[in-house]
Formats: sequence, structure tokens, C-alpha cells
Amino acid sequence: MKATAIANANIALVKYWGKRDEKSILPYNGSISMTCNGLFTITTLEFSKEYKKDRIVINDEELRKDEKDIMGQIERIRKMAGIREKTKIVSESNFPVAAGLASSASGLAALTLAATKAVGLNLNQKELSVLTRRGSGSACRSIFGGFVEWLRGEKEDGSDSYTKQIVDKNYWPDFRMITTIVTEIKKKVGSRAGMAQTVETCPYYESWLKTVNQDLDIIREGILKRDFRTVGLQAEYNCLKMHALMMTTNPPIIYWIPATMEIIQNVIAWREKGLECYFTIDAGPQVKIICLEKDIPKIKGKLKNIKGIKKIIVCKPGDGTKIINKHLF
Ligand code: DP6
Repeated sequence: MKATAIANANIALVKYWGKRDEKSILPYNGSISMTCNGLFTITTLEFSKEYKKDRIVINDEELRKDEKDIMGQIERIRKMAGIREKTKIVSESNFPVAAGLASSASGLAALTLAATKAVGLNLNQKELSVLTRRGSGSACRSIFGGFVEWLRGEKEDGSDSYTKQIVDKNYWPDFRMITTIVTEIKKKVGSRAGMAQTVETCPYYESWLKTVNQDLDIIREGILKRDFRTVGLQAEYNCLKMHALMMTTNPPIIYWIPATMEIIQNVIAWREKGLECYFTIDAGPQVKIICLEKDIPKIKGKLKNIKGIKKIIVCKPGDGTKIINKHLF
């Protein structure tokens, strides 16, 4: 009863921010993302009678407190499989955890696939996306590779809130996202608490919901046509609308630090001078620059002049979550 899975993180071009059902993780709006080759989590998981308690080791550190998201998901899978064995989970990511880099997405996606495989549940990708969603919303988009849409769904039981692939990773191979890491400090307000506060207190939340379907249509079409300008501009606008919601939540949620703003201003200035790039930012200070492969050297050169940047990671469209044979223990 042991399996290992690898999952890539994903970065949204149309953001998910707000749940209509917090327990089942059902979103108020649909979202679209790119699964990122290069930002991954590998998780090995074993259920065994030998284990006396559940153990979780993430990036070589044993977790002491009860991890609700992870254990909630494990409990769900135990119930589905009708087993009671304790588990050992070892997980490694190649990027900073909890700094707005979608670590929960790759983490929960790898965990869900490895756990279902370990107990012998053979779910198809749609079923797997519904189950992964229960662990963390954005994680369900990492089940598929390439460009992915998470459907809002209408049903109360959540069975129609799943993900599907728009196109695979080879459809738009020169599409890139450059993740700039400006700080590795853990953020103060996590997405889960932050979005709940927004839904409750932000006076503009209804207005956001009125515009998201249009963003989804424009970006989905843009991806299908490989229309870079349309996708970039609309993704940037959608991101700014989400951050406007965050900032006008009460109390306000401001994820940006000075380096975030500096990169935003530069991206806009470079674009005005003909270097085509756009930005998007999640629940954290890191800016992801959306660009095409041919412009990477130029953009990398310019990023060297921005002092606040500690590290960059270039991602292209990557694979969905899959089982691998090499276990971490
Ligand atoms: C800003 O998926 O981390 O990255 O469903 O509560 O686990 P939970 O939240 P999470 O939220 C991600 C928010 C976002 C936007 C996005 O990825 O779409």
C-alpha cells in the first residue's frame, strides 16, 4: 500500500477567489491556469499496519501539528477505500512553500493521486480532480497538464465542479511564465482565510463575479488561437481585479511588497517599448511574468537590474499529475 506521485504547480490566468461552499470547496467562479513544468512536488505515501500514528515529513521536516488539509484528504480516502491503516507521507517540493507559489496545489494533487493509488482506488482524471478539489481548490487544476479550466459547476454535491484540459502542453510550447521570487518569508494571511474574508466583507465582490465569465471566455479563446496579446492582457487585468478585492477586504489583505510593485512597473514600461510581456500575481508577493520563449534572454537580462529579486524560475506548460516508480522512502 505504497505509491509515489509527482505533480506540477499551476498558475492561474483567471483566478479563483471565493467559495460558495467552504466545506466542499466549491468556488463562486470558474478559473483557468497553466500547469508549470519546473515547479513540482513529489510525494510518497504508505499505509501500513506497522505505523502507530500518522506521520508527515515535508522537505525533510517532520510536521508536529495536525495538518488539517492533508489529514482531511487522507481521512476521505481512507473512508472511500474502507481502510483504517495509519500512513507515512514524505513530500518534497523544489520551490518555497507557502509564499504564494501554489505549493498547496502541487502538494495536494500529488498527495491525492499517490494516496488513491496506494489504496487501490483507480479513479479517472475527472473523479481525481473532484477529489483533489476537496483538499485544496487550485490543486484540482494540477491534475491535468497544459492549459486547464476548473468549472464552477452548479450542483450542491460538487460533482460538476471539476477540471478539464483546454489544450495539452505541446499546443503552445513557447508560452512561458517567469516566476520571480522576491521573498521566501511565509505569508501572514493564507488564501483560504483571505478569500473567506473577501467574500464576507469586500463591497466589490459581486462586481468581480459579474466580470469573471467574460475573462474566462476571452482567455479560453485566446489560448485556442494562441493569441498571446489577448491572453496576456486579460490575465493581467484579471489579476489586478483580484488584488483590488484583496486590498478592499476588511481588514485589508495586501500581499505586495516594494519589489512586487517595481516589477509590475517595469513589465508595463518594457511592454510600452515593444517587449511583449505581462504579469500575474497570486496570494503572495511573487510576480510571474508571462512571455514568449524568444524574449526570455532579454527579460532575464533586465531582471538582473531589479535588486529585490532573489531568484527566478522559468516555467513552460508542463505535465499533469502522474505516478512514478521512484519512492522517497
Ligand atoms: C490566489 O487553492 O490555495 O492562488 O481552495 O482554500 O485551498 P483553497 O485555496 P487555494 O487558493 C488559490 C488562490 C489563488 C488563485 C488561483 O490559484 O486561482
